[in-house]
Amino acid sequence: MQRLHNKVAVVTGASKGIGAAIARRFAAEGAAVVVNYASSRQAADTVVADILHAGGQAIAVQADMRDAAQVAQMFARSAEVFGRVDILVNNAGVYDFQPLENLTPDLFQRHFQLNVYGYLLAIKEAVPHMRDGGSIINMSSTVTEFGPAQSSVYTASKGAIDGLTRALATELGPRKIRVNAIKPGVVDTEGVQAGGFLHTDFGPRITAATPLGRLGVPDDIAPAAVYLASDESAWTTGETITLAGGHR
Ligand SMILES: NC(=O)c1ccc[n+]([C@@H]2O[C@H](COP(=O)([O-])OP(=O)(O)OC[C@H]3O[C@@H](n4cnc5c(N)ncnc54)[C@H](OP(=O)(O)O)[C@@H]3O)[C@@H](O)[C@H]2O)c1
Repeated sequence: MQRLHNKVAVVTGASKGIGAAIARRFAAEGAAVVVNYASSRQAADTVVADILHAGGQAIAVQADMRDAAQVAQMFARSAEVFGRVDILVNNAGVYDFQPLENLTPDLFQRHFQLNVYGYLLAIKEAVPHMRDGGSIINMSSTVTEFGPAQSSVYTASKGAIDGLTRALATELGPRKIRVNAIKPGVVDTEGVQAGGFLHTDFGPRITAATPLGRLGVPDDIAPAAVYLASDESAWTTGETITLAGGHR
């Protein structure tokens, strides 16, 4: 039995990395998936094509998750095509590690506009389309626990996600809408590659300190998203699942 049969999921930032793996896994578990992207149309179309080829249902919808009008339009389109929304995965995120002396309003805004305001906006716009029993999953990070150097702005934005996850679990509980978070450790994605993280000693240092001896891959994260999206986690809200090979 597919664990997300008959459910409709919106996955933000699903053109690449962790979001793309979650979109593919959700579709394999029977969900109809909205593959959100900002600029990588071709990559989003490839994720959709793979899902359709495998017999699943998906559409790609462009929306900058920092823009209220575009976010509202994306949920309206999702509801128009698939009838409603059952699952929201707030995954789109930015990470630009910089030392404290490089703090600028732009660095702060880039992180908080997408990683915090964008998550709140998506939840605000998703909830009216959700039936009681929906599931919201926010992508946090283990940086809030191990606090790497030069990550203060990014880590602050992920700490905010932990806080809003708890608060909205309380607020939306009466409607039986669950709000949980996932904290991945370092996962080898397009974003991590483009950011050059693995070209410094950052990757080897994390790997050496990881009990399971390797960095993550996107498919290490997707099964936890399936669990939190499915009815198997029906009594779980305001919680965080950490997936980091044992690294803290
Ligand atoms: N990778 C890691 O080690 C790691 C660890 C812990 C937590 N995380 C978190 O996991 C999430 C995904 O990380 P990742 O490494 O898979 O990311 P990634 O490879 O950099 O991909 C980022 C995704 O977000 C989308 N995106 C960027 N800006 C957007 C915007 N304004 N509106 C809508 N979509 C936007 C991108 O779409 P376009 O390409 O179309 O712009 C892309 O699909 C992030 O929240 C990140 O903080 C990652």
